Amino acid sequence: MAETLRSILARRLVIVTGKGGTGKTSVVAALALAAARSGLRVLVAEVGRDEHVPRLIAPGTKPVGYAGRALRPGLTVMRIDPFEALAEYLGLQLGVRAVVDLVFRNRAFRQLMEASPGWRELITLGKIWHLEQMTTPDGDPLHQLLVVDAPATGHGLTFLDVPRVAGSAVRAGPLRKHAGWVEAMLGDPERTLLLPVALAEELPARETAELALRVRRDLGVPVDRVVVNCLVGAPFPPGLDDLDERVARLPAAATFPGLPPPGVLAACGAHLRARHELGRHWAAQIARMTGLPLVPLPYLANGIRGPDDLAQIATPLLAAPEAVAA
Ligand SMILES: Nc1ncnc2c1ncn2[C@@H]1O[C@H](COP(=O)(O)OP(=O)(O)OP(=O)(O)O)[C@@H](O)[C@H]1O
Ligand SMILES: [Mg+2]
Repeated sequence: MAETLRSILARRLVIVTGKGGTGKTSVVAALALAAARSGLRVLVAEVGRDEHVPRLIAPGTKPVGYAGRALRPGLTVMRIDPFEALAEYLGLQLGVRAVVDLVFRNRAFRQLMEASPGWRELITLGKIWHLEQMTTPDGDPLHQLLVVDAPATGHGLTFLDVPRVAGSAVRAGPLRKHAGWVEAMLGDPERTLLLPVALAEELPARETAELALRVRRDLGVPVDRVVVNCLVGAPFPPGLDDLDERVARLPAAATFPGLPPPGVLAACGAHLRARHELGRHWAAQIARMTGLPLVPLPYLANGIRGPDDLAQIATPLLAAPEAVAA
């Protein structure tokens, strides 16, 4: 199965999604950095109120904003603010940006928009579509890889469903046409990949299974693998898989200079082994429940704080996914 899967980097648009705190932003930054290092022109679009990607790629850098900024050669990061995207869209449609800006500064208008459902998602996806369509003067894609840090699941699926809903609610006109373009982009397996990020624990595993089901059944957005983040590696060297049990069998009175008694050492070892085995169990469950191959990423004891940490997860992230036996 793994040989038939194309590399993540073969897509033009990768939308990273998943439950809160699973490592989406870390995966976005690692993927973007690795892609830029491999020579691609990469754009990261963060969706949300705050910026998290820039400080991972270039610690200490200033905010990049809606206009975006190149943080390294070939790697630009921007944050999609729906109000800015809407002002830009209306300015282009109406040809009078100054009037649009005036309306947008009006507090009542902003309050009305804050309370209206759906438009943020649609306009954000419209902006992503526009970025995906941009070309160089030679007609090549301006952004060879566009990586989107999507909102956490739940909200994340609404995000992807809005073009379909809008397309069926509006019968004609530019909104219908534009929703159709976005829907076509999202459903095209040649261009787009939805990349779910999960943790190997019970609740994230179940939520990921539901996500994969809904994405395939209701949304039709291509999904071909699941990233399983923060897997704790085997704690003991090869051939010593039962080290904690061996230590537990030592005489209780045995002493080791500077170390606690065997019972304490055995309990520490058993805890590490249990964490490793629990991760493997839930990773296998994710594979079974989704029917998708996995991309396992290691747990880094110091967290993910900068480019060196990103490089450590980039290699397994871009490796061929593993079909895990349940
Ligand atoms: N493989 C890993 N090993 C260790 N720590 C990790 C790993 N991946 C992510 N983390 C840490 O987990 C925390 C959450 O990661 P991150 O911000 O990437 O998640 P997120 O899904 O984007 O969160 P949110 O839903 O809040 O946007 C961070 O502190 C990050 O450093
Ligand atoms: Mg995040």
